[in-house]
Amino acid sequence: MRKKIVAGNWKMNLDIHQGETLVQDLLKKDIVINDAIEVILFPSFIHLSTLIDLLQESEIKIGAQNNHPMESGAFTGEVSATMLASLNVNFCLVGHSERRTYNHENHEVLSKKLDALYHAGIRPIYCLGEHLEHRENGSHFELIKQQLSVLFEKSNAQVENTVVAYEPVWAIGTGKTASSAQAQEMHAYIRSLLQDKFGNEIAQNTSLLYGGSCNPKNAKELFSQKDVDGGLIGGASLNAEDFAYIISAID
Ligand code: 13P
Repeated sequence: MRKKIVAGNWKMNLDIHQGETLVQDLLKKDIVINDAIEVILFPSFIHLSTLIDLLQESEIKIGAQNNHPMESGAFTGEVSATMLASLNVNFCLVGHSERRTYNHENHEVLSKKLDALYHAGIRPIYCLGEHLEHRENGSHFELIKQQLSVLFEKSNAQVENTVVAYEPVWAIGTGKTASSAQAQEMHAYIRSLLQDKFGNEIAQNTSLLYGGSCNPKNAKELFSQKDVDGGLIGGASLNAEDFAYIISAID
């Protein structure tokens, strides 16, 4: 059975004091995390160690927002998957639209980043999503297939360890959410592509998250869709009240 997941991508927000306060505030909320649910926070690299310590007694997990494709070497300012694994980081985002846009990350780089994570035993959350122009000119399904195809080169065992997050770029940070029907339609399409390539069992066991202006008001409706297994939350994950409410919207 695939897990329901609520993940908070903090992006480049919160200094260490604010990050600790947010986690402490979350710990004060009565968040119920059973075996069917994962709650994961994705803070900045510099917060990882502190927050992993702070969450030692909690079911909340910690992930990283990025990794370098190489294991070590002369890459000033970079962090490898092996380094993340040494901190017991469980998850890492790959392919977020902000990195595709601002850091020009393409198919080849993303594929190498995934391999580095699989090698280090870290589960990737592979993000994909179309721009508004694709949706308007009807090429959004084709684009998602192209982006998902990075996974088509991977083994069954690797894909089994991967979570996919559909984040339409036009919905990220804009307050404009995909309708639950639009999210369901794309998630069903992604699952069908996984089924064609890897078979029914892997397709059914892969958690597919929705991201893009997900908030306490729309989370329940989005999460109630058959193929929406949770959310990757940006802005609303920076507020303990809102994030706790979104977690409670998953059942
Ligand atoms: P927002 O929830 O702020 O739209 O961000 C979504 C996102 O990019 C999560 O990775």
